[in-house]
Amino acid sequence: MKDILVLGIESSCDETAASVVRNGREVLSNVISSQIALHTQYGGVVPELASRKHIENINTVIEQALSEAGVTLSDLDAVGVTYGPGLVGALLVGVAEAKAIAYAAKLPLVGVNHIEGHVCANLIEHPDLEPPFLCLIVSGGHTHLARMRDYGDFEILGRTRDDAAGEAFDKVARAIGLGYPGGPKIEKAAERGNPHAIEFPRGKVDGSPHDFSFSGMKSAVLNYLNHASMTGETVRQEDVAASFQAAVVDVLVSRAVGAAVELGQDKLVLAGGVASNGALRRAMAEACRREGITLYSPSPVYCTDNAAMIAVAAHYHYIRGERADWSLNAVPNLPLKGEML
Ligand code: KG4
Ligand code: ZN
Repeated sequence: MKDILVLGIESSCDETAASVVRNGREVLSNVISSQIALHTQYGGVVPELASRKHIENINTVIEQALSEAGVTLSDLDAVGVTYGPGLVGALLVGVAEAKAIAYAAKLPLVGVNHIEGHVCANLIEHPDLEPPFLCLIVSGGHTHLARMRDYGDFEILGRTRDDAAGEAFDKVARAIGLGYPGGPKIEKAAERGNPHAIEFPRGKVDGSPHDFSFSGMKSAVLNYLNHASMTGETVRQEDVAASFQAAVVDVLVSRAVGAAVELGQDKLVLAGGVASNGALRRAMAEACRREGITLYSPSPVYCTDNAAMIAVAAHYHYIRGERADWSLNAVPNLPLKGEML
């Protein structure tokens, strides 16, 4: 059978990325240009600056992805691009670029949901993994417990009622003076802290066992810091980081593994930037082992934003004949297929 080569393009937030993937699973190149250094100065992602940087970098990133894969545009079968959810200006750069390439090279264009891409990151290193499976999606903007019924088709079982897990990491990191990007900095600081030093609430949503709430946890951290500053107590940044991380990990593990057991699912898939957190991966692996559930997670580089996951998701739409037309536009709050907003 002839190989299928898909170029994936990703620009939904602060990484400009392009990748070539063969037959939906084999990554031939995975180029990521991160804007962390730029946004660090401002303590978070500045949307206008993100769009401008994407424009500056996208051509080089795509050229590099093609050359590292040893292919030219004429070797490709399709171009897949993230068209939501994300920052509208940032998304538009990738969408306009993908349309221009597809038009000029006479290639089919496939629009990809970024969150679906995160889940598909798991298909790269687990060649036998096929839907249906249960997945926990934990990114900067989303926290979903879902069942991927088929490629691109989801049933949402639970979601966050307020902040996303990654957002909570970012806000707490800022509050304790660690800055942007929050998740990796909290993880690093937590290695030197005591996870039992402070008992933060575990954020349950009454009557909705599969839903999440992280804003109470974040407020508890802020209250702890205020109280300490009023009473003159010293705050050990490492202990706050470790205790907060332990609370988040506890909630994510108990909800996801609890749902798997309750629903009789024997495969659990992790996805999104927070899935790169070592403490979460270890605790999840241990809980899944106890319950006889097979756990899947991408390597850290495929957890955070990248274009290989977009090319993989695009592949499965492409082989089913799904195409975008030239009216493809950025959709900042794009839902997953099967998700009701
Ligand atoms: O999936 P992602 O790269 O982008 C979005 O689609 O949002 O996720 C970014 C989020 C950020 O909130 C970041 O703080 C968090 O993932 N994150 C982490 C870690 N690495 C990234 N959170 C906890 N521990 C980490 N090691
Ligand atoms: Zn993402």
